[in-house]
Amino acid sequence: MKTVLLTGGEGAVASVLKNYLQNFKILSPSKKELDVTDRNSLNTYFKINSPDIVIHTAAITDVDYCQNNPLKAMEINTTGTGNICDFTSHARLIFYSSDYVFDGKSKKPYNEKNIPNPISVYGKSKLEAENIIQRKLSDYLIIRTSWLLTQNGGFIKKISEAARVRNEINVVGDFCGSPTVIDFLCEGTVALVNSQYRGIVNVSNSGETTWFEIAKYYFQLKEIKAPKVIKTSSRLYPNAAPRPEYSVLDLSLFSSVTGIKPPDWKYSLEKHVQGKKIV
Ligand SMILES: NC(=O)c1ccc[n+]([C@@H]2O[C@H](COP(=O)([O-])OP(=O)(O)OC[C@H]3O[C@@H](n4cnc5c(N)ncnc54)[C@H](OP(=O)(O)O)[C@@H]3O)[C@@H](O)[C@H]2O)c1
Repeated sequence: MKTVLLTGGEGAVASVLKNYLQNFKILSPSKKELDVTDRNSLNTYFKINSPDIVIHTAAITDVDYCQNNPLKAMEINTTGTGNICDFTSHARLIFYSSDYVFDGKSKKPYNEKNIPNPISVYGKSKLEAENIIQRKLSDYLIIRTSWLLTQNGGFIKKISEAARVRNEINVVGDFCGSPTVIDFLCEGTVALVNSQYRGIVNVSNSGETTWFEIAKYYFQLKEIKAPKVIKTSSRLYPNAAPRPEYSVLDLSLFSSVTGIKPPDWKYSLEKHVQGKKIV
């Protein structure tokens, strides 16, 4: 049985992904158990466990924190990934990158050949990590994903918490992207792990939308006393980190490699809320 190491084992993606990886021995150390910036502990861990596949999910994913703490962002997202590469030369590496490697000026979905041009520290830290992987390894997959949706964190947790204490919430409606429901990302990852493909590949649900539309649809699905969702502009609620205005991902390569047509984000979100697997 092959061994899969999931770095950042307590993170959102790793926690769900382990349930999708049947027929593998899974190791999913927390940050405390395996810090990707600590080369000594990486050395010991890889010697003892010699994983066949490393799925590197560990990262700082708070985009605004990264903007305010660029050295920390680069240390973990970029140098940490470089460290993982150094111990993965006898294994296959799967890395999660982001739509934030693009500047958002395109008017059509980004494919894997489009030239990245990140506008935030987070985007730069992920692009630099991609470049290091491509320089150091040959057996790798770089999965670019976008707008992760999970009830256990990120945007959905934020709006749910706000809804508990407020009757009205403001949500930006001027960015356009493709949401990725966590279960579909995991399903897509497994399909790619089982494929022969190596290189960069986009994975998201199909359909493009705004955060405002996602919030409205989520509250509709939950059938709870929903707050009034007010569409607002990012100019009125500026964040520390700039975001790409448009970051929809082209999914043709993913479909041709795996034979999977990504479901619409609304379908996958409904299944996620119902606690059902998408397959
Ligand atoms: N979330 C999104 O919208 C999104 C979109 C595109 C791509 N991605 C990428 O997908 C991957 C997984 O994202 P996610 O949503 O699962 O992120 P997450 O929930 O924030 O999980 C990341 C995990 O990495 C851990 N970590 C942080 N620093 C570490 C270190 N030095 N050593 C080891 N572990 C460390 C974190 O621990 P602590 O929480 O204790 O710090 C956390 O458990 C990331 O690479 C992310 O960049 C995410």
